[in-house]
Amino acid sequence: MTKPVAIVTGAGSGIGLAVATHLLTLNYKVVIADLNERTGNTAATSLGPNATFIQCDVSSYASQARLFKQAYEWGGNRLDFCHANAGVDDRQLLYEEEAKEELDEDGLLKPLNTKTMDVNLEAVIQGLWLFKYYVRRSKEAGGGKGKFVATSSAAGLYYMTTNPQYTASKYGVVGLVRASGPVFIKEGISVNCICPGFIPTNLCPPGILEVWPKEHITPLSTALKAINAFISNDDMTGQVVELSQQNIYFRDHVDWVNASQKWIGTESLAIWDKAYAKIPEKNGY
Ligand SMILES: NC(=O)c1ccc[n+]([C@@H]2O[C@H](COP(=O)([O-])OP(=O)(O)OC[C@H]3O[C@@H](n4cnc5c(N)ncnc54)[C@H](O)[C@@H]3O)[C@@H](O)[C@H]2O)c1
Repeated sequence: MTKPVAIVTGAGSGIGLAVATHLLTLNYKVVIADLNERTGNTAATSLGPNATFIQCDVSSYASQARLFKQAYEWGGNRLDFCHANAGVDDRQLLYEEEAKEELDEDGLLKPLNTKTMDVNLEAVIQGLWLFKYYVRRSKEAGGGKGKFVATSSAAGLYYMTTNPQYTASKYGVVGLVRASGPVFIKEGISVNCICPGFIPTNLCPPGILEVWPKEHITPLSTALKAINAFISNDDMTGQVVELSQQNIYFRDHVDWVNASQKWIGTESLAIWDKAYAKIPEKNGY
């Protein structure tokens, strides 16, 4: 029987590196996937023969599709776990000052840089799409069940006025997990996410640690508590787990405002299924 195989994106550093290191202790073979060749290679080398580095830009579908194929083949035609964790904060300020607003040659305002959405949300959706494909094809090698974890943020439950696109991307991850988790589990794939509070990593702006109060730091070990919960419970899916200080908190969606909204959110889903089944082609627009 081959070992279970995991991909961790953004594993060259921070939370991803801690999760990759932890998965190795749980008998996984782990692919360190990162854009940064230097940190990714260093991490994989230090973790030994059950880890390998594959360079990947998750914001490119082609790059991520190559990552999944290579990881699956490296693992002996098997994939069991994916932590879609790579993330960046806002690359351009939505509130950009007037002097920095630029026009193109047609006099139209140039678009806002939304790399944050590509890396933090679009890549997670495509990662889940790819993960499902390879889990389905892992049975012969001893797999066939999957665990998908995404990294959202406390900003995906509350908000950061300093990072509005980041906030939007992390809310998107929470919605993805809640909506798809209960469906994917029917074929043995769990889908959950973590929402870390402040963890000192390379993502944080330089100098912030010098002024940040120590009591508001969440250690990397708290992230591993959530990973352990997902791994030890095969039925746990659609869960949004906030990480704060030493603790993990399972967060439900907002309260139903009234009985009508509760009915729409729960009982009406069978009606939606039937209605969508009547639309023959949805790719035309
Ligand atoms: N550190 C925190 O306080 C905190 C809080 C909430 C959420 N998060 C989230 O945790 C995740 C991990 O961040 P971290 O704090 O460990 O930061 P980090 O900077 O240490 O790690 C992020 C990693 O992602 C990689 N990366 C960036 N863009 C990539 C791309 N396009 N393709 C592949 N890899 C890419 C980076 O090279 C880096 O190694 C992110 O999604 C982040 O938004 C962090």
